Amino acid sequence: RPPNSQTEESCVLKRADCRAKGGAPGFKVAILGAAGGIGQPLAMLMKMNPLVSVLHLYDVVNTPGVTADIGHMDTGAVVRGFLGQPQLENALTGMDLVIIPAGVPRKPGMTRDDLFNINAGIVRTLCQGIAKCCPNAIVNLISNPVNSTVPIAAEVFKKAGTYDPKRLLGVTMLDVVRANTFVAEVLGLHPKEVDVPVVGGHAGVTILPLLSQVKPPSSFTPEETEYLTKRIQDGGTEVVQVIFFSSFSFLGAHWLNYVKQCPCYWQAKAGAGSATLSMAYAAVKFADACLRGLRGDAGVVECAFVASEVTELPFFATKVRLGRRGAEEVYQLGPLNEYERVGLERAKKELAESIQKGVSFIRK
Ligand code: NAD
Ligand code: LMR
Repeated sequence: RPPNSQTEESCVLKRADCRAKGGAPGFKVAILGAAGGIGQPLAMLMKMNPLVSVLHLYDVVNTPGVTADIGHMDTGAVVRGFLGQPQLENALTGMDLVIIPAGVPRKPGMTRDDLFNINAGIVRTLCQGIAKCCPNAIVNLISNPVNSTVPIAAEVFKKAGTYDPKRLLGVTMLDVVRANTFVAEVLGLHPKEVDVPVVGGHAGVTILPLLSQVKPPSSFTPEETEYLTKRIQDGGTEVVQVIFFSSFSFLGAHWLNYVKQCPCYWQAKAGAGSATLSMAYAAVKFADACLRGLRGDAGVVECAFVASEVTELPFFATKVRLGRRGAEEVYQLGPLNEYERVGLERAKKELAESIQKGVSFIRK
């Protein structure tokens, strides 16, 4: 029988009915930018999530193919594809959770802030759609620069009169995932046994791992602290391009600059984009936590970049407790050591500028 909207809808209803009988809630999730490097593996992993009943895949290119492909997976969620701006509203209507990895990624030599000019406009348009079609949805914002795109989203929602700070979350989970991996390597533990809070924001020095609060309680030498902090802060750049400046430091500043410009020196993804697979993993880990919170599970705590009163800045990443209304509780930083206090001041300085840049983009 050829698929049509009637059979698809009855299929959704049957599955919803089935879930209701089993007592399992199913959530409706949209991915905006679903055909991209992050979007595709993210869509695949969300299709595997038993908490998802309906999965909407929206992009400005290639969603028919991605939707057909993902739709053949024999898991519960019903998948629907939406292509281009005219279909944005249908993609968003009725969604419980919207995940946004839409936008351009970095190339070697770029900072995340270099993406602002293109991605700010993309995020603004998508958030205007959310304000109109699913104002109560939880929003997981991945598009860079997160330190500015989250304030942009907040301003769009304020303008539309739909802003609920609890429901807007910048995704910094990849920093935590990386921190757990690198710290576990140093401690000789399985990454699952390690929990590293990463606070601040999501760019360079604004990424502040709190190694003094690692679980299980661990101590690090000053060299280990320096190595881990820098590696976690530069994790994204490590994927975009290889970083081993320190190995060439004996050359001196002049020759080091020369080496940095050599094309064969820049490797890793070498212009083909930034982290996609580890990001899809991190995004799904975070989205799953949001859905468990929505379901009413107790004690769901993850780090995210949210509206905050923890510092004097209006947004800051810390641990938050996820519940039915989103980030229901924002946790304080806890005790910091001297190294972290210095890092915090540096992080706040850069964060303040990035936040202001996002706010001004909408208010101007
Ligand atoms: P990509 O270029 O592979 O995919 C982006 C997708 O967005 C493309 O399919 C593109 O068609 C789509 N897109 C562009 N404009 C759109 C619009 N107006 N509406 C809907 N979709 C649109 O890039 P990627 O590697 O998937 O990265 C996406 C973004 O995520 C980048 O900004 C990147 O910097 C960011 N990122 C963030 C994190 C994080 O930790 N928060 C990690 C990795 C990447
Ligand atoms: C990351 O941390 O991997 C992302 O923010 C992508 C990037 O540009 O580094």
